[in-house]
Amino acid sequence: MSTQTKVHGLPLYHAPAYTEEVSHMSLARLLDTVSSSVPVDWLRGTRPNAIDLSFDLVDEAASRLDRCAPWLAKHFPDTAATHGIIESPIQRAPKLREHVDSIVGHRLKGDLWLKRDDALPISGSIKARGGIHEVLQLAMSIADEIAPGAKDLTSVFDDAAFRSRAARTMIAVGSTGNLGLSIGTVGPELGFPTRVHMSVDAKAWKKQLLRDKGACVIEHEGLFSEAIAAAREETASDAHAYFVDDEYSLGLLAGYAVAALRLRGQLAAASVVVDEYHPLHVYLPCGVGGGPGGVSFGLRYVFGEHVHCHFVEPVASPCMLIGVATGKGHGASCYDYGLSGRTLADGLAVQRPSQLVVDAVSGMVDSFHTVDDQTLLAAVDWFWESEGVFVEPSATAGLTAAWQVDSVRQATHLVWLTGGSLVPKAQREALLSSARNAAKSYVVPIRCRFD
Ligand SMILES: Cc1ncc(COP(=O)(O)O)c(C=O)c1O
Repeated sequence: MSTQTKVHGLPLYHAPAYTEEVSHMSLARLLDTVSSSVPVDWLRGTRPNAIDLSFDLVDEAASRLDRCAPWLAKHFPDTAATHGIIESPIQRAPKLREHVDSIVGHRLKGDLWLKRDDALPISGSIKARGGIHEVLQLAMSIADEIAPGAKDLTSVFDDAAFRSRAARTMIAVGSTGNLGLSIGTVGPELGFPTRVHMSVDAKAWKKQLLRDKGACVIEHEGLFSEAIAAAREETASDAHAYFVDDEYSLGLLAGYAVAALRLRGQLAAASVVVDEYHPLHVYLPCGVGGGPGGVSFGLRYVFGEHVHCHFVEPVASPCMLIGVATGKGHGASCYDYGLSGRTLADGLAVQRPSQLVVDAVSGMVDSFHTVDDQTLLAAVDWFWESEGVFVEPSATAGLTAAWQVDSVRQATHLVWLTGGSLVPKAQREALLSSARNAAKSYVVPIRCRFD
């Protein structure tokens, strides 16, 4: 664990926000159920956050990404069609909805939509917007020193003066895979030596892809918390090093949040109304919480009270739920509750939540859910068979939670798909085959509801 007490001027550890609830009977039962790996639905409702962040962060991040769009379009051909804007489409999923209706045994009230961050350009996951935003933010601060006031960032970033400064600035990050892919793709392209510390759960193909992109991959025997601690330590003593802190970064959070600004336009273009009579429910897979936290922060900014955010974690690594329920935040670990933190949802295999998200966003989250590995795997098959969409297991986490929340007929349910398009063909086929088997023998697990 870090010994830092402040990051970006905000306290890293501080008095727990919700300690008064710990003694509450139902919370004790919730934690007991969670530690026995039974899937839960904790319909807690929203509440004030311990820290109020300004929504200006979202507009500032959007404007940074816009300014860098020409450079992205030039260097990453998959963004050329969107002129360098890193965005994914939304799509309706009527067949999937019918399929899950029949499995779960009751009809979902409202329409089912998918947000296709599995297909985000450059690094194919929800971590792209945040990770790339933070690297570009660093690049812009260097550009400001070299060519103050320059309008054309593409020529600055591609100039020898910038590249020689970048070559002397090492970027380090700890990752389960997808954040590493985002930082480790854009960092080297800008000329930054980039070191990605990866946990034992990170897939071999992600490590190889990173090496191919020019990043240095450091493999750790331990789990995510250890990988991130090693990256933090590596940069602490180096004045020229920059640490991308997945557990406490405003740059990441703000970058993820930009998705909400774009979603507003996408829903309007599809004639999907979001207002007091037409609530929007959004289901987000949660690891450390940065990705879903950033998106929820942006959604709150854009849709206010009319959006309801729901976080979903694997039964073996529900660190955000535990951190919020106990009030201990980053100080709580799944191990404390007898849970391994190991799951086939590699992107969600983390042991401690982001304190920033616990403090500044968790109050905006309506409910917290857990899901078993069998459901995550079977859902890979359901997405594929019903909608022809291939996603990695982590990305499916949000799906079944939609059937567990209370909603109305006019509601829109948006399942946020968070990764998958970069999975190589061989791994994809193997995954689809085990997903098919999981779907064939699938039995709906017993769940416990807490409200
Ligand atoms: C596919 C996928 N989904 C969801 C997440 C969760 O993001 P976070 O760890 O920021 O909560 C990750 C994290 O890497 C991921 O790779």
